Amino acid sequence: MQKINAAITAVGGYVPEYRLTNKILETLVDTNDEWIRTRTGIEERRILKGEGLASSDMGAEAVKDLLKKRGIGPEEIDCVICATVTPDMFFPATANIISHKTGMVNAFGFDISAACSGFLFSLTTGSSFIESGRYKKVIVVGVDKMSSIVDYSDRTTCIIFGDGAGAVLLEASTDECGIKDSLLKSDGNGKDFLHMKAGGSLKPSSVETVMAKEHYIYQEGQTVFKFAVKGMADVSYELMQRNHLTADDISWLVPHQANLRIIDATANRMSLPKEKVMINIQKYGNTTAATIPLCLWEWEKQLHKGENIILAAFGGGFTWGATWVKWAYDTQ
Ligand code: UT7
Repeated sequence: MQKINAAITAVGGYVPEYRLTNKILETLVDTNDEWIRTRTGIEERRILKGEGLASSDMGAEAVKDLLKKRGIGPEEIDCVICATVTPDMFFPATANIISHKTGMVNAFGFDISAACSGFLFSLTTGSSFIESGRYKKVIVVGVDKMSSIVDYSDRTTCIIFGDGAGAVLLEASTDECGIKDSLLKSDGNGKDFLHMKAGGSLKPSSVETVMAKEHYIYQEGQTVFKFAVKGMADVSYELMQRNHLTADDISWLVPHQANLRIIDATANRMSLPKEKVMINIQKYGNTTAATIPLCLWEWEKQLHKGENIILAAFGGGFTWGATWVKWAYDTQ
């Protein structure tokens, strides 16, 4: 029997209108544009403004964009996997809410919580559904409204994060294109360095937890940085080695956009020149689960059938991983 590959056949994306620039952040906390640019590479991020708007609204826009490009109806989708750490609610899953908002009435859905690696974990999960032959059309959404968990009086975190959503459609392919290999890792020892302290079953929400600002991101930046540099570079290199890929074989690196210095370290380890690295951190900051699909969305027209692309991420948990994709289409 011919092997079924899971190919990405369309990409959609959405970023909110409002631009939170470094200059504006200078008015909120003790920081400056120069520090933010040199330490992170970020110039501005998008923020979802407006009462009653949540991650699902951005995810729904990305899905609508994707369906329109592919020319298919929402009822054709079998499954929706949503990677997010900022779900609309604890439950139901944001995937279900996105399905409802877009008319994906025949799809089942669920969320995956793997922080900045969430898109890669979800992509691998979705691919397995296609490869098994069980489902024909699976959408993977990476979305985060990070502004909902950022403390805008904490200069060590508020400069980093932004809001956005990206989505890809997975379909069966019998040629060599598709998701070729994934190397995914997690280590719960990392939880101390990047987490949200309260609101879960360990420390349910209370007046005290709100007063103590425990519903915001807590990050020990330097420690996370050290693990991220090593984790993302190692896993990308290992994925290349085990698939006998050289730098010349790779057309693009699509790194999680957390810090330009982490991206540079990964590209160096893979011996990839800057021109082969997708970077949009300056415009969007770190949108957690959305960074990788938002890159694919922006670069889609420059991608060609058969090109080898490495996606790589590191995030809270710790979670990290790399995925090798052979691109499946040329954009008309
Ligand atoms: O995507 C999820 C995974 N997360 C990551 O990958 C993030 C990894 N970490 C990082 O990207 C970096 O650690 C940060 C961008 C968060 C921080 O950069 P850093 O180079 O590690 O800075 P630092 O924490 O070592 O701080 C250096 C100095 C400190 O001052 P002193 O103690 O040397 O006087 C900080 O207080 O910079 C100060 N500082 C700031 N100064 C101006 C910290 N934040 C700011 C700021 N503006 N926003």
